[in-house]
Amino acid sequence: MDLNLSEEHEAVQFAARDFAQNELLAGVIERDNEQKFDRSLIKKMGDLGFLSMMVKPEYGGGGMDTLSYVIAMEEISKVDASAGVIMSVNNSLVCWGIQAYGSEEQKEKYLTQLSSGDTIGAFCLSEPEAGSDATSQQTTAEDKGDYYLLNGTKNWITNGNSSGICLVIAQTHPEKGHKGINVLIVEKGAPGFTIGKKEDKMGIRASDTYTLMFTDVKVPKENRIGEDGFGFKFAMTVLNGGRIGIAAQALGIAAGAFELSLKYAQERKTFGKPISDHQAIQFKLAEMATRIEAARLLVYKAARLKDEGKDYIQAAAMAKLFASDIAMWVTTEAVQIHGGYGYVKEYHVERMMRDAKITQIYEGTSEIQKLVIARELLK
Ligand code: CAA
Ligand code: FAD
Repeated sequence: MDLNLSEEHEAVQFAARDFAQNELLAGVIERDNEQKFDRSLIKKMGDLGFLSMMVKPEYGGGGMDTLSYVIAMEEISKVDASAGVIMSVNNSLVCWGIQAYGSEEQKEKYLTQLSSGDTIGAFCLSEPEAGSDATSQQTTAEDKGDYYLLNGTKNWITNGNSSGICLVIAQTHPEKGHKGINVLIVEKGAPGFTIGKKEDKMGIRASDTYTLMFTDVKVPKENRIGEDGFGFKFAMTVLNGGRIGIAAQALGIAAGAFELSLKYAQERKTFGKPISDHQAIQFKLAEMATRIEAARLLVYKAARLKDEGKDYIQAAAMAKLFASDIAMWVTTEAVQIHGGYGYVKEYHVERMMRDAKITQIYEGTSEIQKLVIARELLK
């Protein structure tokens, strides 16, 4: 498998790095402090093509491969992991899902808006009683002939308040278990659709995470994606790709913290010399760089397999499991290398350590990734 970057991939890397350094960096601490979802920055991401990288050009997207997408995710998450998750949900869960399984009408109606950044999408699978145990959906989509009647509560929804288009997973035929679940496109503003509380989070604070409530929301039948009962398979399939995106986010957080640490270690002096002259710090840097490189290879491998149309379920789960663990480890070491300065906001690494934690939890916890990997090994 060729893991070298082409000129096109390098151009994507350059563009994403440029955007991250010149547009995201300046306000990243303020946005984190104030939990501020910045609409204008998201629009700029849309204008630059970062919200719909894999969407076909006829629907307003970049028509790029998954490797391009993970390269951009890494660069953006190096600076602002909140921007990374907003981008990830829109690209890999919502846009990719509609493009892969939506009807022609659904693609034409929704992908263009989702590509431009005029609106963004949300993916609504989790519920108060159905997180890891995602088949236990309590939200119902009752079949009423030409529409579904949607009732229930979704929690932890990224882009929950700011999205205009939500993919909602709900149970239509409880007697069929996961094979009775559907996925519906629900537009913001539909009568009976209300926004609940905003979560006050440890990290990725500039992304909005909300509870969404549905009370007798009428959803036209044409808004169902795929055949009746396809919703759970849709969610799982979309999440396989999503996990590559979150692995790239984790990789970016780790790589960002490492770059800051490498620079700081050469500037900060103790006992008359830069701390990078102390072998204890050199060993930390060496181990950080090695683990980051290993994570990058896993992320690129999963992306390549997806691009080649090969099975990538296990590779995606391995990439997410490993990259999220190294993000947590690298950022903790980055704070240590910065000493007391690492513990305050100005030096960024404390935020990165807080941001890293979520990558072990969402889009399937680390325990769920191990379960997925083990099932693939044993099947
Ligand atoms: N890819 C494709 N299909 C899959 C799959 C995968 N990775 N995992 C399961 N399936 C399919 C199975 O093949 C099965 O279908 P069939 O009966 O047709 O064969 C069906 O799904 C049910 O699978 P299981 O019998 O294995 O179900 P389970 O209840 O034992 O376990 C699970 C399923 C893997 C634990 C699943 O519930 C899961 O992935 N849970 C984690 C949920 C999750 O990742 N949530 C993320 C929410 S989105 C989010 O978090 C976004 C964000 O933060 C930004
Ligand atoms: P639980 O499922 O209750 O798990 C609790 C603990 O038990 C975990 O450590 C878990 O790994 C462990 N565990 C559970 N089952 C097993 C098992 N079988 N074997 C071993 N260990 C197990 N969801 C969405 O649908 N859309 C979103 O946009 C979204 N964004 C999110 C953003 C944030 C900031 C957060 C915090 C969550 C988000 N989520 C979203 C939800 C996220 O996917 C869930 O939190 C996650 O899947 C875990 O579910 P849970 O919180 O209910 O934990």
